[in-house]
Amino acid sequence: MKKKLVVLTGAGMSAESGIATFRDSGGLWDRYPVEQVATPEGFAADPELVLNFYNTRRRELLKAVPNEGHKALAEMEKQFDVDIITQNIDNLHERAGSSRVVHLHGELMKARSTGDDSLIYDIDPANSDIRIGDLCEKGFQLRPHIVWFGEPVPMIREAERITRQAEIFVIIGTSMNVYPAAGLLMDVRKNVPVYLIDPKDVSTTRYDVHHIRKGASEGVKELRQLLR
Ligand code: APR
Repeated sequence: MKKKLVVLTGAGMSAESGIATFRDSGGLWDRYPVEQVATPEGFAADPELVLNFYNTRRRELLKAVPNEGHKALAEMEKQFDVDIITQNIDNLHERAGSSRVVHLHGELMKARSTGDDSLIYDIDPANSDIRIGDLCEKGFQLRPHIVWFGEPVPMIREAERITRQAEIFVIIGTSMNVYPAAGLLMDVRKNVPVYLIDPKDVSTTRYDVHHIRKGASEGVKELRQLLR
């Protein structure tokens, strides 16, 4: 029986793929006002600005490839029963070969109807922009299928269920600033080992975290050695 390995990832997981993090210096929130581009109010005030913010990030994603860290996590499915819970909206875990990925904050390569939450569409990489006037089958404007600040996180219940079953819990590339994602650490059973892979210190709600002070690619490699 393979041990259940649950991995919580954030923007740092994709940094080595050339995708900007949010809170490192020069990060996305240094360059864009969060309330204008990542809130429902911002979208209501200027939908075109918001659509173009995500169109730009989608084009960058289409040029990015999974890094060695993404690939190593996919490889670990040979030894472990792996679940990835990611805050990232990129599809790099899937493109690296991870087979079970829960996106807490949505997916950049999907669009959703503004009039019916159940209408979700895959975005064609060859025509990846969402524009004003792009409508769902019921005639409502399409928006990014992404969780903005202040919006509900529909996948959090599933993420909590998965986390409670973890026999090993790994945190990679997240500053643990944003809830409810950061709160998942409270759902890890107390005798379950927790590893943190991050080049910087990250304050967490547990004192017994094993910190691998490296980037994702080198860090996952070291983790695999530790878990042999
Ligand atoms: N490898 C691993 N970790 C890295 C790397 C790297 N190469 N480079 C940076 N990091 C770490 C940083 O040290 C930091 O702890 O990644 C973390 C990035 O933190 P944030 O930029 O805050 O990103 P994240 O925690 O994913 O943000 C959470 O906030 O803006 C919202 O919805 C957005 O999902 C996002 C959420």
